[in-house]
Amino acid sequence: MCGIIGALCRYEVRDDLLAALQRMEYRGYDSAGICTLHEGAFHQLKAAGKLHHLKEKNARQPIPGCVGIGHTRWATHGEPTMVNAHPHLSEQVAIVHNGIIENHLALRQHLHQRGRNFSSQTDTEVLPHLLEEKMAECGDVLPAWRDMLAELHGAYAIAAMIRALPGSLWFARKGSPLLLGRSEQGMYVASDALALAGLADEVMYIEEGEWGRVTLDAVDVYALDGQPVQHDWEPLPLSVEDSGKGGFRHYMLKEIHEQPGVLRNILRAYVHETTIRFEQAMFLHSRPLPERIVMVACGTSYHAALTARYWLERYLQIPVEVDIASEYRYRDPVIGDNTLLITLSQSGETADTLEVLRMFKRQTPQNRALALCNVASSSLARESDGLIELFAGPEIGVASTKAYMAQLAVLALLTMCMAGRAGALKSSEMAGHLRYLEKTVTDMEAMLADSSGVLQASSLFAGVKGALYLGRGPCYPMALEGALKLKEISYLHAEGYAAGEMKHGPIALIDSTLPVVVIAPKQYHLDKVISNLHEVQARGARVILIVDLPEADWFAHASALIRIPEGDYFSTPLLVCIPLQLLAYEVACMYGTDVDQPRNLAKSVTVE
Ligand code: F6R
Repeated sequence: MCGIIGALCRYEVRDDLLAALQRMEYRGYDSAGICTLHEGAFHQLKAAGKLHHLKEKNARQPIPGCVGIGHTRWATHGEPTMVNAHPHLSEQVAIVHNGIIENHLALRQHLHQRGRNFSSQTDTEVLPHLLEEKMAECGDVLPAWRDMLAELHGAYAIAAMIRALPGSLWFARKGSPLLLGRSEQGMYVASDALALAGLADEVMYIEEGEWGRVTLDAVDVYALDGQPVQHDWEPLPLSVEDSGKGGFRHYMLKEIHEQPGVLRNILRAYVHETTIRFEQAMFLHSRPLPERIVMVACGTSYHAALTARYWLERYLQIPVEVDIASEYRYRDPVIGDNTLLITLSQSGETADTLEVLRMFKRQTPQNRALALCNVASSSLARESDGLIELFAGPEIGVASTKAYMAQLAVLALLTMCMAGRAGALKSSEMAGHLRYLEKTVTDMEAMLADSSGVLQASSLFAGVKGALYLGRGPCYPMALEGALKLKEISYLHAEGYAAGEMKHGPIALIDSTLPVVVIAPKQYHLDKVISNLHEVQARGARVILIVDLPEADWFAHASALIRIPEGDYFSTPLLVCIPLQLLAYEVACMYGTDVDQPRNLAKSVTVE
């Protein structure tokens, strides 16, 4: 979703602002803008659509100034037009904002009555005017800034410049992430650490409700109540290389290819010989095992949780509830004692998932909340009682790939760890499963080196209207994920179904033009899947089989075969990830869509 950058430097900042916005493109946006302050005047450029439009404007008419703010906007209030793009300005103030000001209509009306006019349809535009009013009332910016924040309902991360104070940048955070950066050359405000790669050496994370200002020499941070707070500077956990494509055509392809390395990192971090240990979630090792597990997430992360439910229930023999965060938070769930909440999120900033965590902690403070998250500095990671980091590195392609595989991998380890404690998994069995996970690293490398099966299968998607994905057991949620991946990047309609459920409706879709991807590894109810396969084949569909058997007579009628190496109970879904992701990728390339930034999508969904 929207991205924020602010820079106050010893040199002109426009190019850094644009470069930072480019590094945040992956979040999804539909317009962009930058504004600098130079010799007492604001200079601004805005453009609807992709960033190159803004860059072209800057090339024609570069804007001067050593202090500036920039924004990529993902439209919520008002269409993605130039007028609605940020920054939004009043005479004295320029502001960029992420989040939603829920009481913007009331504020707008009030400000209108005081003679203020608005040019955009956005909620954000009330902010510069409100601050200006408060500055007139208070006669000083600091109390005015605090009074402005006190009137806002909703979520925000804000960066602002004030015309009379060209040596400072102002910021505030509530419900939307924000951090500061510094280097020898300047100070920065950003919504995303990646924006600061190559600019800042150190970062400071701003906590919920905090606000303040930076100058070239100082940082003042205040809590919501106005009390000063201190935070440490930490090294920026990223380099410029992390934000590049590494020679691949797309970020998504690069990230698919990074998966063997990600799995290797995970095994190194959590497995010590045959012991599994989660140092940032020690309660998993010390407290009694929970009597119930609730797993909550959105999108792809939700699919990872669905697969893990099969694993956890089999080994722990306790109820495991899995829900979509946007449903769970509004459905009056009954949370008992001895319940472990597991939230899953690549970004750790997904608004609905975060709200579930906060609700769970409010309602049952005696329970523990564990986050499985790729961003250790994220709100979700920091507000949970324990963290299992995914170690996937920055995921820039909007469609989640390596973080999903990493979630499955850590969920497999978590299941084994808890099953070991419950006495449900002998150490010899655990060692066997761990050997399979290690073999998965090299198996993935081999699959990525030869994707001929996927290429052949992708040609079956030419000119189709949609596709069906079928699986059973832990591979049923993988069918959901395969379908989601295809639809989000190729814009083809796709459905994932439990193979046994097909005859209860979706079988009506089947004709000779429909590609049906059948996930059929021998681990999960293969005989049943084969029966479902025959039902599909009998109706003439184009069947694409994902299989780990070397040969079988039922392969004969498939239109395409995608072979995966043999896995075990836990490693098989990890292997299945690769062909599902590559297939979606190849089909999207064939259709010529924007693979890394599919239309309408945002990487980090920070509004509900
Ligand atoms: C799909 C995708 C999304 C995310 C979802 C949750 O490829 O990436 O469905 O999985 O928006 O995001 P996180 O995991 O950051 O909470």
